[in-house]
Amino acid sequence: MILGVGVDICQNERVKLSLNGKILSAEEKAFFDSYKSDLRKLSYLCGRFAIKEALIKAFSQANINLYLSDFVVLNDDLNRPYLAKPIFNDKKVHISISHEKDYTIGFALVELIDTTNNKK
Ligand SMILES: CC(C)(COP(=O)(O)OP(=O)(O)OC[C@H]1O[C@@H](n2cnc3c(N)ncnc32)[C@H](O)[C@@H]1OP(=O)(O)O)[C@@H](O)C(=O)NCCC(=O)NCCS
Repeated sequence: MILGVGVDICQNERVKLSLNGKILSAEEKAFFDSYKSDLRKLSYLCGRFAIKEALIKAFSQANINLYLSDFVVLNDDLNRPYLAKPIFNDKKVHISISHEKDYTIGFALVELIDTTNNKK
């Protein structure tokens, strides 16, 4: 069952690289620091900001109030973003990020999953 969806669009020029400490977890900061160009650093930062805002909205629809600092969003070996350190065992979170020149968008969906393991 879908509990909530959230979307956020970020105008890149409104996000400053110096805000990285407010937006990124330690794990995300390691990737941010590894990027050589400021352009990629900014797109990465905007992606984390947009997806976390989208996650806040999606969880809010499920009556769960969370903050930027509650989320760690990493990328797998195919570069797909995923929510690391899942917050709830009974909720699956689906996320997607897209970058354009001046804007970044994040989309999140929170799904309630059956953890009882009693399906026939
Ligand atoms: C994945 C793909 C659709 C990205 O599209 P794009 O227009 O180049 O870039 P966008 O800005 O829209 O998307 C980039 C974001 O998509 C996400 N992403 C990247 N690869 C992804 C994938 N395979 N699946 C889902 N999401 C992906 C990431 O969050 C990335 O942003 P981030 O690196 O800052 O976290 C494109 O690279 C593609 O079609 N690739 C072919 C499929 C592929 O690469 N498969 C893996 C083979 S090894």
